[in-house]
Amino acid sequence: MSASSNPDIVLSVRGATKVYPGTQALKGVDFDVRRGAVNVLVGENGAGKSTLMKIIAGVEQPTEGQILMGGEPVTLSDTAAAAKHGIGIVFQELNLFPNMTIAENIFIGREKTRGGIDIDAKAQNAEAAKLLKRLEHANDPATPVGDLRIGEQQIVEIAKVLAQDARIIIMDEPTSALSAAEVDILFRVIGELRAQGVAIVYISHRLEELVRIGDYITVLRDGRITGSRPMGEVDVPWIVRAMIGSASKDFAKTIHHDYGPELLTVEDMTLPRKGGGFAVDHVSLSLKSGEIVGIYGLMGAGRSELFDCIMGRMPEAKGRVTLAGQELTERSIHGRIKRGIALIPEDRKAEGLVQILSVAENMTMSSLAAFTRAGIHLDVAKEKRGVAEFVKKLAVKVASLDAPVSSLSGGNQQKIVIGKALMTGPKVLLMDEPSRGIDIGAKAEVFRVMRELAAQGLGILFVTSDLEEVMELSDRIVVMSNGKITGEMARAEAAEEKVVALSFLGHEPHKTTGSGRRELQ
Ligand SMILES: Nc1ncnc2c1ncn2[C@@H]1O[C@H](COP(=O)(O)OP(=O)(O)OP(=O)(O)O)[C@@H](O)[C@H]1O
Ligand SMILES: [Mg+2]
Repeated sequence: MSASSNPDIVLSVRGATKVYPGTQALKGVDFDVRRGAVNVLVGENGAGKSTLMKIIAGVEQPTEGQILMGGEPVTLSDTAAAAKHGIGIVFQELNLFPNMTIAENIFIGREKTRGGIDIDAKAQNAEAAKLLKRLEHANDPATPVGDLRIGEQQIVEIAKVLAQDARIIIMDEPTSALSAAEVDILFRVIGELRAQGVAIVYISHRLEELVRIGDYITVLRDGRITGSRPMGEVDVPWIVRAMIGSASKDFAKTIHHDYGPELLTVEDMTLPRKGGGFAVDHVSLSLKSGEIVGIYGLMGAGRSELFDCIMGRMPEAKGRVTLAGQELTERSIHGRIKRGIALIPEDRKAEGLVQILSVAENMTMSSLAAFTRAGIHLDVAKEKRGVAEFVKKLAVKVASLDAPVSSLSGGNQQKIVIGKALMTGPKVLLMDEPSRGIDIGAKAEVFRVMRELAAQGLGILFVTSDLEEVMELSDRIVVMSNGKITGEMARAEAAEEKVVALSFLGHEPHKTTGSGRRELQ
């Protein structure tokens, strides 16, 4: 089909190639973006999805190939040029300025002014409040973005692109940090945009999401298109085959084993919240050697804050943490890592990695002691072997171990953070959203690694907003809502409805009026 003759196609990519040092990210890609439709793009970590989107959004230039709009070639030399053509993007990696307010971030580069000089904060706040209301979000637009949790920041990114009135909106994994309720809200907004004729390009690793929302699906594998169809013509097995080139990999099966002694005990943990109340409200729990405990709850339930308390990074927190019978008194993350607790944080870009350092340097950062001879010299060969083992285990796609982490795709960066935590040889592993942003193959692999580690005697505590994940992976499920534990049960006794109901217990309904209160923090 020729792009020029089809009025439904608002933008076409033709023969796009992108060469990075050491990698060819795209190999002759043709891609059509249809008006008034959700154009889904899917593929394994490192397949080239974000690269293709960056080319459409003017962030990267193709090495070869063309972009056509209305049948005419266009040059999208930067994001401003793309914006002029009505193209907006929600990046996979959040790009907000933490010291600026929600409204300032939304209008950055397009500030509302009084007489062209002073920024009209009042007008910006009012407009931002409307956008947040559309997304059913309660934060005051004058709140600094640095005070928001990552899921809330993702909502601000979405508001920012809505403010542009774009004709083509690219969303690169917009839901990876959103709860189910927030995904529903986003999907409603996407439905409205589609009805207005906006073209949506939507990337996600959550296949059930894609099937639910997509009108057209395009699959990328290793820089090439392996399939492109109306969504109604395909099913999940077709998608998986196009993605990985074979039928679905065998998903990890439960490894049966007995639990050992109690490893981690948290007693009466509290963390006061700014402005009153508790982010973590008198929480007690325990974890045995060999046990995987899943903490389920809505965004803002206090799950990540509980992890922060366990890691000793919250000076205001009160409560006891005991590891293998010994109370942890050190107040630093590094102190606790040394004692045997490792954390895989939710915000992996900001907290987990140093972008300019290499893959190998990042992975061993927390475990250098194991790689130093006589405590001084870095044993480079040993380090490389250790890193190479994990890179292989987690199927990280990387040109070389010396490549900077910034050159890896989003999902492959996540795998590095996981590898980094595993390399510290922990007794207890805290994982915040373990499958966030990683493809289905890697997810199965991470789950398998988690089960293996548990079978070897590790205790694993993980947080998730994904109901299926908590049901599949946990030996025991703990539900949190509004800072409190609202239920606890063995997986065998857990019914999905019960878990969801507990996650809403004591949770105040979403406020849509900007009262300045922060319900979902
Ligand atoms: N700036 C860069 N320098 C070098 N290589 C890069 C750069 N950006 C991306 N790559 C490489 O290009 C390939 C495609 O990356 P891309 O980010 O497009 O993948 P993706 O499909 O978005 O994956 P994910 O699902 O993990 O986000 C990867 O091998 C990645 O390492
Ligand atoms: Mg990507």
